[in-house]
Formats: sequence, structure tokens, C-alpha cells
Amino acid sequence: MKIIKSISEMQNFSHGMRRAGETIGFVPTMGYLHEGHMSLAREAKGGNAKSVISIFVNPAQFGPSEDFAAYPRDMNGDLEKCETAFVDAVFVPDAREMYPDGFSTHVDVLDVTDVMEGTRRHGHFRGVATVVLKLFNIVMPSRAYFGRKDYQQTVVIRRMTRDLNLEAEVVVMPTVREPDGLAMSSRNAYLSPPERAAAPVIYRALSGAKKLYDDGERSAEALAGSVRKVLAGEPMVELEYAEVSDAETLAPLQQVTAGAVLAVAARIGRTRLIDNILL
Ligand code: PAJ
Repeated sequence: MKIIKSISEMQNFSHGMRRAGETIGFVPTMGYLHEGHMSLAREAKGGNAKSVISIFVNPAQFGPSEDFAAYPRDMNGDLEKCETAFVDAVFVPDAREMYPDGFSTHVDVLDVTDVMEGTRRHGHFRGVATVVLKLFNIVMPSRAYFGRKDYQQTVVIRRMTRDLNLEAEVVVMPTVREPDGLAMSSRNAYLSPPERAAAPVIYRALSGAKKLYDDGERSAEALAGSVRKVLAGEPMVELEYAEVSDAETLAPLQQVTAGAVLAVAARIGRTRLIDNILL
């Protein structure tokens, strides 16, 4: 497994592969890898000749009052996990490599960022889109793998890829959960034991709403209301939003037709978690 820190070396590696006619499967991450990340890594390896993971805690996608400094990091553990998943190259740039002095270009994806996370985390998706475009230009993937856990992010990346004619095929994989339903997330490491015990209520609330939908409920307000009600029963959890949106455009829905997503953001103590379920 190659560990690559410089952009030029990463580009040389990828150029070599692409010239040899080999496909590259790419998984961008911020590290502190868990089974959610590793499911993407295995898919990238299985579907391509070579697999590349990037590990970069991207300062540009954190707001000034967010958790950039505290974000969990474990480079040695991450590299070991990549070895066991037969990753071919790990790209681990530092912030100066990615954002040298004078850096002044960014990517804004409009419309699909006007809802959900976009309205609560100003500048977040600008930071995500910009770093993912940079990473695509550095790694030159044939396919890039993203998790449905960050649903809006997958919509933003797909839109950018389409609008800017990027070559990579965007592949979205299902959310990997703990046995009790909690969506795996690097941020789960912040949870105290009682908070961790309370956290599965988020998925219980989403599953309950999905059951109502499967039983015929089509009112977005009723479905979101059922999420609010279940979460209200867990005093440790504070709901930020529960929104029902068109799965492709993320436009808010009143009536749920086919292809909708119910997305939730909630705080447990100081930890902010997101999750969603497809209807
Ligand atoms: P990060 O949160 O590290 O996630 C990296 C990838 O793993 C994302 O595509 C995310 O959706 C996916 N992922 C996280 N938890 C998952 C789970 N439980 N099941 C399935 N997939 C999961 O998302 C980012 O980093 C950053 O925004 C990034 C795209 C790397 C840009 O900086």
C-alpha cells in the first residue's frame, strides 16, 4: 500500500494507472475510519483495478464554531484498516498542500444546498464541493464512492459532477449501522456512555416514520411529526430538523410521492448527528 502525501506524487500514480488502462475506485474521507468507510473501500476495490482512499480533515467545510480542532483523528489505526481492505494507495495531504497561500477559488452548488444542512451549516457544502473537485483532479478516479448517510452531500456531489462534466462516476452506498441502528459516524466517538445509549432513538424515529409511510401515510407533516414525537420522548436528544424532500432535487414535499427522503439532524449533548431514511 502506497502512502502518498504530495499532490504531484498522487497525480503521477493515477496517471500511471490510467495510462495502463486500469480503473481507479476512490473513497474520499476525513479519517477516523469505521465500517461505513470500509464498506465504501471494499466496493472501490471490488469494482476497480485499483483503489485509493484519501484522509484529509478538510478545514474549509467546518464553520468557525464547529468541531474542526476536536475532530477525531487516528492516522495509524486508519492506515492499518486500509491495509486490511487491500487499498492500493492512501492520499494524506496536509492543509498547506491542499490550500497553499493565495488559495482563492471555490465551488458553489446552488439550489440543492438551500435546504437541510445547507441552511444550518453555512459554507459547509462550498467546502465539501471544492475539496471533492480538487481530490477528483488529483486522484482522477473512474468511480468515486459516497455513503447515503450524508444524503445531501451525495446530491451535491452528483450535481457538481453533472454540471461541471466531471468524468468520475458517482456511486452511492447504503448507510452502515451499529447493531442497535445508530448510523456509524466518526462523531459517535464524542458521545458519553449515556448519550450513546440514547442515540439509537434517531433511527427508531426514522424507522417508525417509514413504517407509517409503508402503511399508507403520505402527509410529509404527519411523517415529520411522528419523528418529532418519538425524539421528544428522549430528553437527551434535541431535534434540529426533520424534513421530507424529493430524493433527487431535495425540494421540500407536502405529499410524499415516490422517491422521497426523510432526513434528520439532532443534537445529543454537544454532538450533532445526522441520519435519513428513503421512503
Ligand atoms: P467522512 O465523514 O469521513 O465520510 C466519508 C464517506 O464515508 C462519505 O461518503 C460518507 O457519507 C461515508 N460514510 C460515513 N458514515 C457512513 C456510514 N455509516 N455508512 C456508509 N457510509 C458512510 O463525508 C466526508 O467525510 C467529507 O465531507 C468528504 C466527502 C471526505 C469531503 O471532505
